[in-house]
Formats: sequence, structure tokens, C-alpha cells
Amino acid sequence: MNKITELFKIQYPIIQGGMIWNSGYKLASAVSNAGGLGLIGAGSMYPEVLREHIQKCKKATSKPFGVNVPMLYPNIEEIMKIIVEEGVKIVFTSAGNPKKWTSFLKENGITVVHVVSSSIFALKAQDAGVDAIVAEGFEAGGHNGREETTTLTLIPMVKEKISIPLIAAGGIATGRGMLAVMTLGADGVQVGSRFAASLESSSHANFKETILNVNEGGTQLTLKELAPVRLIKNKFYHDVQSLYETCPTKEELITLLGRARAKRGMFEGDLIEGELEIGQIAGLIKDIKPAAQIIEEMILDFEEARIEVSNFQF
Ligand SMILES: Cc1cc2nc3c(=O)[nH]c(=O)nc-3n(C[C@H](O)[C@H](O)[C@H](O)COP(=O)(O)O)c2cc1C
Repeated sequence: MNKITELFKIQYPIIQGGMIWNSGYKLASAVSNAGGLGLIGAGSMYPEVLREHIQKCKKATSKPFGVNVPMLYPNIEEIMKIIVEEGVKIVFTSAGNPKKWTSFLKENGITVVHVVSSSIFALKAQDAGVDAIVAEGFEAGGHNGREETTTLTLIPMVKEKISIPLIAAGGIATGRGMLAVMTLGADGVQVGSRFAASLESSSHANFKETILNVNEGGTQLTLKELAPVRLIKNKFYHDVQSLYETCPTKEELITLLGRARAKRGMFEGDLIEGELEIGQIAGLIKDIKPAAQIIEEMILDFEEARIEVSNFQF
């Protein structure tokens, strides 16, 4: 047992990060059934779609699961209402001010975790009364901070500042990665990219196959003027880069981005014009497999690495 397994009443301190267009009830329940904590990604769901996923998740697992709510999307009031009505016990908020919803969620008996990318934001989240923090490094897939702080440097700095449980995210896809961040002071890990390439991820097969072909340098954090996001370098990404060469206004960037790019890329499988979000660790992901196998292999790898490290002598 550790702080994270106790907080969520789960077997392994492995959380599957909420991921738009990837983490519906199938992935969340598979992770929870395998002993981790699965999160439904509300960011790409209309409120009533979210309700359906929560209801299906309750049927698919008797283990704890949660919902991730990125606060940059619309309909937040309705989403929070549904979360309470459906009796969800764990909520991970991200991309917004933790002061806004933490007390409401806590008053409704919900365990609240907030995702941050710096120690200043970690302190703010702790002050807002959250139960734990996810500190997410620059390597991570999806939206991210502007400051480019890597997981290796972020975790010990956040650890120094906060007293509540700490979950590390960004660049973790193996048990060795998990051991590394836990050595630095994390109590658990949040994994995104590795689970995007799982059988149960709801993303399009084209997107999953593309993840397997990403090499070192194949992704970049871009669109910092809007909401910084790490993208695979496809045609859409290169269109963004070409526009940058003309010193565009924010409005011009918004116009190029348009609407529903992420859905088009990750859910509908348009590898050319769509937005394809993945982390740097995709370079290490070589197969699509069941979520339960991902967790099992991470735990075995963690144990092996722990023995190797403890056998080392100066
Ligand atoms: C395809 C994709 C979509 C994501 N969508 C969200 C999201 O909706 N909300 C959120 O808080 N984080 C989102 N993330 C971040 C993950 O929850 C997680 O913190 C991150 O992927 C961890 O880094 P890793 O990709 O290196 O494992 C997303 C990540 C990916 C790869």
C-alpha cells in the first residue's frame, strides 16, 4: 500500500490519464479491472454522452474509476452536475483554475485531483483543497504547460513544495519509468500515450498505427499562443509551422486550427488534416495491446528494475 493506492483504493499506483477521443468507458473499465485507476475523458463528450459512459463503466467494473474534466471545454456546469448525479467518486480536473470546482466536488464527497505543469500551480491546487496532484512534464501527450519543464526536473521540485500525494505524468510507459519517478518522490504515475495505443482505446485504428511509427523527434509542443499541445509532425502540424513563419496573429492561428481537428485526427483517422496528440514516449511504443497486459508488464518491469538497482554497488 502507498498514499495513492490508499487514496483511490486500488491495487497498483497506475492511473490511466483522461484522453480526449481515446478514453471512453471501455479503456477506463479495463484499466480499473486490471488494478489501476481508469479515467473517462469527458473533454470530448457532450454531457449526455458522458452520462452514458459513466453508466456503462459502472456496469463494466466494480472497481473504482474516475472522470477527467479539462476545464477549457464548454458545458462544465452540466458535466459537473452529471458527475454528481451519477455518483462518480473521483474527478481529475485539468487545464483551468482548481479553485473553481474543488469545493463543490468535495462537498459532494468526491476525491479531487488536479493536473499541473509547475510547482507554483501545484501549490495553488494544494491551497484550493485538492486531495492529490498530477505533475505533468513537457514530454507528455496532449495539452501542456508553456514552460517546457521535463518530468525529471518537475517531480523533485513539486515534491519539495507540497505535502499531499503526488502523481507523476509525462514520458512514463514502462515499469522502469515508473520506478524512476517514484524514486524522485512521486507516489504514483499517470500514463497517457501508452494507453492510447491499447486495444480498448476508442481512437481510430489509423491513429493507433501512427503512434507505433513515431520516432525520437517525431512530436513537438506547439500552438503555445492558444492552448499548448504536443502533436505528431503530420501535414497539419507543418501547416501550423508554415503559418508561424508569417508571424501570425492569434486569430489567424485560431482560423487555421478551425473546429474539431482533434476529433478528425484521432477519432476519424484523418492522418493528414487532423490533430494527432501523443507524447515523446511514443518512440518506445511498438505494439497495440490490451490495457491489462500493459499494466501487468509495467509491474513486472518495475520489480525487475527495482532488483537491478538494489544490486548495484559503488
Ligand atoms: C491523445 C491524448 C489526449 C489527451 N487528452 C487529455 C485530456 O482530455 N485531459 C487531460 O487532462 N489530459 C489529457 N492528456 C494527457 C494525459 O492525461 C496524460 O497526462 C499524459 O498523456 C501523460 O503523458 P504521456 O503521454 O507521456 O504518458 C491527453 C494525452 C494524450 C496522449
